[in-house]
Amino acid sequence: MRITIFGATGLLGKHLVEKWNTDEVVGLGSKDADIRDPQQAWNAVYRTHPDWIVLAAAYTDVDGCESNRELAFDVNCHGAMNVARAAKRHGARMLFLSSDYVFDGTGNTPYEVDHQRAPRSVYGQSKAEAEIRLSEIMPDACIVRTSWLFGEGGRCFPDTVLKLATSRSEIDVVDDQRGSPTYAADLAHAIAQLCSRDASGIVHATNRGDCSWFEFAREIVSRAGLTTIIKPTTSDKFVRPAERPKYSVLSSSSLEKYAITMPGWEDALKRYLAARKLTES
Ligand SMILES: NC(=O)c1ccc[n+]([C@@H]2O[C@H](COP(=O)([O-])OP(=O)(O)OC[C@H]3O[C@@H](n4cnc5c(N)ncnc54)[C@H](OP(=O)(O)O)[C@@H]3O)[C@@H](O)[C@H]2O)c1
Repeated sequence: MRITIFGATGLLGKHLVEKWNTDEVVGLGSKDADIRDPQQAWNAVYRTHPDWIVLAAAYTDVDGCESNRELAFDVNCHGAMNVARAAKRHGARMLFLSSDYVFDGTGNTPYEVDHQRAPRSVYGQSKAEAEIRLSEIMPDACIVRTSWLFGEGGRCFPDTVLKLATSRSEIDVVDDQRGSPTYAADLAHAIAQLCSRDASGIVHATNRGDCSWFEFAREIVSRAGLTTIIKPTTSDKFVRPAERPKYSVLSSSSLEKYAITMPGWEDALKRYLAARKLTES
């Protein structure tokens, strides 16, 4: 199969390009094709002639989206539609990356794919709107919602914690937001499997298990053999422009329908730390 990845220079995109060795893969960054421009999206699809398009390109600065609503919708929603229209015209299938932020986060059991969207941030709204419009344009598109992405080759929570831990004896981390950390390498593998299994509709794909940011940070520091103390705190002490979902654990039942199981997040973290060590040495 021929695969075109938009967003190949990002955290997930880099892992997609690196791990996807069963097919012919072309990776594009925003300099190769700015998806806000329909002509550029069209040319990129025409030039690469894919069987599948993986759309990992997005404006992902969640707080930045609050003050740049137009940019958020231009990239995350209208840009995605530009790619979808080009994909449809060229007869390519499409897999679109979405987010746990489409939910309001007031639940306390894992969200199923058909749970009502109720985004509380501009970023979440731009993704929710893109999901709805994409399903109208391409009913057979696959929409993969994921959460709390981490991995080598980009800014992510474990990397921030490890950097802070080298200069601080204590770090305060919120303990009242719960989700599932997801290793980009594992997500890339699941995405390749979904395409090979002709997936369509909404699929939730995260590492197994869940934790709070505090529990995640504590595990990161402990597994890295550091002595920095991680202290639990609450979101009201860390007010940020965009509201974060309090609970955004995604049910894995939609992924299991395709006979795909993702490893647990602790195991994923262990592999990430080993890979990070290698890239540092
Ligand atoms: N990170 C998370 O925790 C998380 C959680 C849930 C869902 N997601 C979703 O997963 C996907 C991948 O996330 P990520 O963290 O890997 O993203 P990322 O590291 O921020 O990378 C974003 C990518 O989008 C590209 N891009 C931005 N604006 C573009 C434009 N106008 N035209 C074309 N490309 C553009 C960037 O290209 P350049 O670098 O070349 O400019 C980059 O390759 C996104 O859809 C994101 O919304 C992420």
